Amino acid sequence: MHKAVIVATGLFTPPFSVSNTELVEAFNTYVERFNAANAEAIAAGEVTALAPSSPEFIEKASGIKARYVMNKTGIVDPQVMRPILPERPNDQISILAEMAVEAARQAIERWGKPVSEIGAVICAASNMQRAYPAMAIEVQQALGIEGFAFDMNVACSSATFGIKTAADFIATGSAKAVLMVNPEICSGHLNFTDRDSHFIFGDVATAVILEEESQAKDGWEVLGTRLKTEFSNNIRNNFGFLNRTAPEGEGARDKLFVQEGRKVFREVVPMVSQMIAEHAADIGVDPTALKRLWLHQANINMNEMIGRKVLGRDPEPGENVIILDTYANTSSAGSIIAFHSANDDFAAGETGLICSFGAGYSAGTVFVRKR
Ligand SMILES: CC(C)(COP(=O)(O)OP(=O)(O)OC[C@H]1O[C@@H](n2cnc3c(N)ncnc32)[C@H](O)[C@@H]1OP(=O)(O)O)[C@@H](O)C(=O)NCCC(=O)NCCS
Repeated sequence: MHKAVIVATGLFTPPFSVSNTELVEAFNTYVERFNAANAEAIAAGEVTALAPSSPEFIEKASGIKARYVMNKTGIVDPQVMRPILPERPNDQISILAEMAVEAARQAIERWGKPVSEIGAVICAASNMQRAYPAMAIEVQQALGIEGFAFDMNVACSSATFGIKTAADFIATGSAKAVLMVNPEICSGHLNFTDRDSHFIFGDVATAVILEEESQAKDGWEVLGTRLKTEFSNNIRNNFGFLNRTAPEGEGARDKLFVQEGRKVFREVVPMVSQMIAEHAADIGVDPTALKRLWLHQANINMNEMIGRKVLGRDPEPGENVIILDTYANTSSAGSIIAFHSANDDFAAGETGLICSFGAGYSAGTVFVRKR
């Protein structure tokens, strides 16, 4: 069995940032217009009036201050309330693959080795742009990589599931090095007219290269990976290829992201805290001695609670990395952005944890040690 090492990461940040104030301004204009247009029906009790959103609520409840998106004009236009991303012809790289390639190129450059060393590409993300051909194969072709490639989707936990899959390929000799990418256009599945969730997501792409230990120059030894799933309807998106066969469901809001945020919070925090503690104990890692936590980025209060439980104290500033203030929830990419942005100061032998959690429910823990 060969050990796997994370040898490089990459990050593609979309060009446009949308602040809470900008988002709420569009939302509240939408609400005013909706309520005015439906005034009679609202007065008759046939339609429920919509309530306004507020930047103060968003920041306090989630920790999110802004998010990056691939298209801003549509999102902040109260007449549109969704990103506008024109369809590309089939002979042009698709937008999701393009984002992944940008992140991957950065990782490959940092790694400093030729792509001929990579034997597999995994595209692990919440939403694939199409059913097939696989996004991963398009990324593979754009980068000139040989071997095999495939897509996998475990929602917000896709990246840790992808890391484990890559580490297992390396362990069994299926590939010497694996590229794992997480392109996320979360704005595409977000209902910008839904007060409960219109602020939650942002767009981004991350990339991770894992390599077999004996040939890796530097990096992060993967000490252990663990995955867990437990079925829940509390985060759900019913978009799918059967939608067109069910005319009664056409246009329903559950074809986009929906969640019972409070229940998710209550159920996922203990599940993930316990999983981290058990995994750490099983591989002989003292969780209170971890130098850093790179947790999934959905809610700052959730991360603070998990951080306190894992470390057994209030985390020092910077120990529990938070990037959701500027990126919002970027689904599978969140913990990887955190890892990518805050690991330069590690000395050899120091240990940290990459951890994801989200829809499914699904959770993944990856303990890493600097070589
Ligand atoms: C989504 C989330 C930020 C909402 O925060 P919350 O504190 O649970 O908020 P609630 O939905 O319970 O709403 C609290 C109050 O704020 C109000 N509210 C909801 N959205 C609002 C908005 N946009 N602006 C102003 N007020 C709002 C509600 O109406 C409610 O009012 P009430 O107390 O008078 O009934 C939070 O639950 C969360 O992040 N949960 C975890 C989600 C998660 O990790 N998901 C994984 C996704 S991959």
